[in-house]
Amino acid sequence: MKLIRHKEGGTVLLVPDVSLSQDPPPTSPVFFNPAASLNRDVSVALASASGGGTFCDSMAGVGARGVRVANEVKGATEVTLVDFNEKALAAARRAAAANAVSRKLRFAVSETGSFLFSRFGRGQKFDFVDVDPFGSPARYLQAGISATADGGILSVTATDTAVLCGVHRATCLRRYGSAPLNNRFHHETGVRILLASMARQGAAIDAGIEPVAAHSTRHYIRIYARVRAGASAAEASLEGVGTISWCPACGDALAPHDGDPACGVCGGKLKVAGPLWSGKVVDEKLVEDARKEAAARGLYRGAEVLGSLAGVDNFPPWSFDIAEVCSRLKAPTVPELEVVRRLTGGGYRVMRTPFEGEGLKTDAPYGDVVEAVKSASSGAAAARPRSA
Ligand SMILES: C[S@@+](CC[C@H](N)C(=O)[O-])C[C@H]1O[C@@H](n2cnc3c(N)ncnc32)[C@H](O)[C@@H]1O
Ligand SMILES: [Zn+2]
Repeated sequence: MKLIRHKEGGTVLLVPDVSLSQDPPPTSPVFFNPAASLNRDVSVALASASGGGTFCDSMAGVGARGVRVANEVKGATEVTLVDFNEKALAAARRAAAANAVSRKLRFAVSETGSFLFSRFGRGQKFDFVDVDPFGSPARYLQAGISATADGGILSVTATDTAVLCGVHRATCLRRYGSAPLNNRFHHETGVRILLASMARQGAAIDAGIEPVAAHSTRHYIRIYARVRAGASAAEASLEGVGTISWCPACGDALAPHDGDPACGVCGGKLKVAGPLWSGKVVDEKLVEDARKEAAARGLYRGAEVLGSLAGVDNFPPWSFDIAEVCSRLKAPTVPELEVVRRLTGGGYRVMRTPFEGEGLKTDAPYGDVVEAVKSASSGAAAARPRSA
């Protein structure tokens, strides 16, 4: 394996040369994914905004996240890199030396779950724990919570998006104990299922969670949540766990699900999703501080991801897609702006959903969204020249 120097953010990493040319990069002998730089930029920004402290990069690979945190986060006091792959940690050691941050780093060639569970003592926990596995994080959630200090932040990557987003429903039920939805807002549902799973795993060991931020792409979901120690914090966080229902026939969505199997609008059979996190997903102050941190470092895509979360908790936990509403109405697609104008004119709030590639969030009932689309559609039809 040939390791080459590769700059990411303000840090020099040592990465396998093939990882920069192969997509996806090879997992052996060591793994590095340049496409995950955005994911790490957001970590650096949030760790900075939360004041640094101790950080555990519990699946460190070549140390891309951990060495960046040690080097780029001013308040970072000590960063512990864990991986069961010795070769990966050897590359991380070289990266630490290249950035002159070796004195801040600790290395543990260890299995993540057992390492994190071993750090349950109050003085041994970390202010920030990151869990970044290949695939599902399900088996590491409780270990991550257990190693996060009271008031500290746990961040988790899930790359089993097809499971969380409803392509493999039975696997989602088995792995996360929740029913997903494979629809227009499936990434948001996936984010909320993962948060609910974290809340329930935490509750079992007397810890609560308070979500801080989340983002998603086609390839992965990321969540960040504060951990709060104690049975009452655990009980309080379970209040954020609920269900929603969605009507595949007309597209309406409702929360919480009230047990009625039929859609109140069209009488269609509702699909129930959850348990999922129906509480707040964003710590607005911390996320805004992190957005500024990212922008100040030139991490513009990270700043954009963080900025896209502002205000998201003012809306119900789903979104709608205008193209989909048009296709349900068998109407030609109308400009999004026309629908937004009608909804805001009616006194409703609207924002672009940060969780899906397309779609809007609004506090308008679905019936009013449909009316706005119809009205925009007839406006567009009136403006179209009639065919001869
Ligand atoms: C997706 S990669 C992590 C990438 C890294 N966080 C980054 O940003 O470049 C997962 C890493 O976790 C390690 N790993 C996977 N399962 C592990 C386990 N149970 N215990 C310790 N290390 C593990 C792998 O060796 C691999 O280096
Ligand atoms: Zn319906």
